[in-house]
Amino acid sequence: MSLDIVILAAGKGTRMYSALPKVLHRLAGRPLLSHVVHTARSLTPQRIVIVYGHGGDQVLQTLRGDDLMFVEQEPQLGTGHAVQQALPKLTAQRTLVLYGDVPLIAAATLQRALSFEDGLILITASPEDPTGYGRIVRDSTGAVVRIVEQGDASPEQKAISEINTGILAAPTSKLASWLSRIANDNVQREFYLTDVVSLAVADGTSIHTAQPAALFETLGVNSKQQLAQLERIYQLQQAERLLARGVTLADPARIDIRGELTCEQDVTIDVGCVFEGSVRLEEGASVGAHCVIKDAHIEANAQILPFCHIEGARVGAQARVGPYARLRPGTVLAQHTHVGNFVETKNATLAEGSKANHLSYLGDATIGRHVNIGAGTITCNYDGANKYQTVIGDGAFIGSDSQLVAPVTVGEGATIGAGSTVTSDAPPGELTLSRARQVTVKDWQRPVKRQRSDDS
Ligand code: UD1
Ligand code: CA
Repeated sequence: MSLDIVILAAGKGTRMYSALPKVLHRLAGRPLLSHVVHTARSLTPQRIVIVYGHGGDQVLQTLRGDDLMFVEQEPQLGTGHAVQQALPKLTAQRTLVLYGDVPLIAAATLQRALSFEDGLILITASPEDPTGYGRIVRDSTGAVVRIVEQGDASPEQKAISEINTGILAAPTSKLASWLSRIANDNVQREFYLTDVVSLAVADGTSIHTAQPAALFETLGVNSKQQLAQLERIYQLQQAERLLARGVTLADPARIDIRGELTCEQDVTIDVGCVFEGSVRLEEGASVGAHCVIKDAHIEANAQILPFCHIEGARVGAQARVGPYARLRPGTVLAQHTHVGNFVETKNATLAEGSKANHLSYLGDATIGRHVNIGAGTITCNYDGANKYQTVIGDGAFIGSDSQLVAPVTVGEGATIGAGSTVTSDAPPGELTLSRARQVTVKDWQRPVKRQRSDDS
């Protein structure tokens, strides 16, 4: 049966106390609404229609995709009214309603619900505390008869533990006909989507219920507290998935993955690491405590020591990085390289076996094999207007505290004396240095403090 999906995302989110529309707040680095869109896409519907209201421009700018349709709901007169706004866009035989602020609903749960071939399908749950939710009212045979909202419920109805998660599916034509008949004669003066249930009962439509595999799937975000809770739930889930595949995590409660982390066998990750974008850790790679790694590829058995910041970089097999290294975009470290503490690299290539162990800036640099970059070496790549390249040949030795003023080439096997400012090319195999000759002044006396004649 063909399917359209409507995602309700018009709510104000008053309790977030934020200028940002609620559905754009981030869970694991992505807007709440993006999580729902991702799940919706996995069901391959004909159409995905997003009903937006508050902060509409921001929602439209953030959520892009040729497959998404947007409908504005203004004013916001309730969930039933919201779905009504989407009706003109719906063409499939069946419609599924999701919520932009219920980000963790699983595709498998939705698929299970959609396996009922006909009728009105409700996803219901039984949380420990049903307060605030619409309650599922059943008759003595167990058949659903209606949903009653918290504000409209009698004390007996409030005691019902089965609640409406809000997510439902129905034949589109029936949904349209029920929605044309709902009213707002309730406590909140809103057009409730939930009122379609009693209309379905009245016209003899069968009603099915399905439950989520985990309760957290149906949790909504109304406050920063709930957002933080869902973030922890989501992160723990991801950590458990890594553990299940054999990754060693020092503490599954202390890792944050905001994107896609792919790990091969025997990867070890210490506490407090943040992974963003797309990160790949090859076999045997290890990441020390408190590293932030974004869009990077760490090859086999490479060691990232604690407190590194790595972005847009590739680290070769058996390389050693950190502690306290910063690899910026365009960094490529070949195998067996070392980049140590307080070294910053950007658009820099270090070929096999090269080392920059301490306190350096290597920007726009192509560095050959088995090069030693002494402590404090800086590639001066920027003249205030343009960036220039530094090229260092295989086997070169750059003495400590040197400045290589680009564009400049240091030849193969060249040695640069410590403390040099290199402004023109250094020939291969030779010692090049640029520093004032050391002198010693004979019999020089340190000044002594003058005696004062009075205290005036
Ligand atoms: C709704 C359900 C309730 C269910 C609960 C689950 C109704 C009447 N009630 O209640 O049975 O237990 O969700 O969380 O449906 N929205 C719009 N436009 C509107 C109003 C709401 O787009 O005019 C969107 C909101 O952004 C939100 C969702 O619909 O994503 C739910 O709205 P909300 O006001 O939170 O509904 P509840 O009162 O919680
Ligand atoms: Ca709600």
